[in-house]
Amino acid sequence: MRTLIKNIKKLVQVERQPKLRAQGAEMTQMETVKDAYLLVEDGIIKAFGPMGEWRGTADREVDAKGRMVFPSFCDSHTHLVYANSREHEFVDKIRGLSYEEIAKRGGGILNSAKATAAASEDELYDMAQRRLEEVMRIGTGALEIKSGYGLTTESELKLLRVIRRLKENSPLTIKSNFLGAHGIPMEYRGHQEDYVNLVINEMIPKVADEGLADFIDVFCDQGFFTVEDTARILEAGIKYGMKPKIHANEMAVSGGVQVGVKYGAISVDHLEQMGDAEIECLKGTETMPTILPGCAFFLNLPLSPARKMIDAGLPVAMASDYNPGTAPSNNMQLILSMACIRYRLTPEEALNATTLNTAYAMGVSRELGTIAVGKKANFYITKPIPSYEYMPYSYGENKVERVFLNGVEV
Ligand code: NIG
Ligand code: FE
Repeated sequence: MRTLIKNIKKLVQVERQPKLRAQGAEMTQMETVKDAYLLVEDGIIKAFGPMGEWRGTADREVDAKGRMVFPSFCDSHTHLVYANSREHEFVDKIRGLSYEEIAKRGGGILNSAKATAAASEDELYDMAQRRLEEVMRIGTGALEIKSGYGLTTESELKLLRVIRRLKENSPLTIKSNFLGAHGIPMEYRGHQEDYVNLVINEMIPKVADEGLADFIDVFCDQGFFTVEDTARILEAGIKYGMKPKIHANEMAVSGGVQVGVKYGAISVDHLEQMGDAEIECLKGTETMPTILPGCAFFLNLPLSPARKMIDAGLPVAMASDYNPGTAPSNNMQLILSMACIRYRLTPEEALNATTLNTAYAMGVSRELGTIAVGKKANFYITKPIPSYEYMPYSYGENKVERVFLNGVEV
């Protein structure tokens, strides 16, 4: 099956020599083709170029006159499988409670865990499936989904089995992440090493036994898991073939970046609290620093020093953190806008941060993240827009008109 997208006003973010990620000054590089065509064959990008160079035939033609084509967003950090929204805590926060105070008295992640325990696998699946549909329609083509609202062996496995079913049934590219070390259940308060032991000795082997997780994650932060807990959990996960990703430095300069880098984490995420030592430590590593603008916005946290990191030569990725507690928005178009407005990235840098670099942060940048021959045909056609800069500029507006995943319109 050959599909031709023709008369594209601008084909954005094409790569002729694909790279796995963009770092430092490379993040400003973003190639486009004016008045372009894009040819897809059997789900894969086969060719692209100026319309005047198009020769050949296709089974289906789509006219994109006045519209632009972008590679789909990759959202490398989400907690999309959850049972309940948490707007009451949102109101508590407006009234003055902090995220940590809410967590301390059993709200927050534990509130989600209670609701998750009460929901069946099918119920969780149906809710998550509907969320995926929405995400897909606004331009996301790949996402990573974490467990972490279980916090018991049974509930964590339930969440991961839901993610496996989503992987099997959705046209989106999905990676799964085991985040058993997301919160400390009430009954383990005061002896959290027993919970860490449960994660290591019982959860990880069972998760591995069913092949449920691509990644292993720990919330390494003040009031949550320590650097020592994190090191032990990552070592155990690595033994079972799970690649580390870390929640680090959201509440405090936690040592999370350093422990992530030490264990070869594919990404360290959040990074609201970053000192020079953290930036130094990331230089020359394979670890993708990942900023979550939605969480900083929702919790009114300090902004991660994205500009400083890029100017220091680092790559930067930006993902949604879609979850009911700290980032209840699924919208990567909004993340793209925040990257420019709040973090002072240029539109080119912001696009690289939300596509190629997030693809890297979930281990799929060989197959996704840009328009390149041989990559998966995951892209969207915009509504008529005047320029590609309009994408981040017009924040809050949905600019996506049609979506193609694996070359098929969804
Ligand atoms: O990435 N920071 C830790 N975990 C999630 C929030 C979890 C929640 O509050 O439900 C995050 O922000
Ligand atoms: Fe998160």
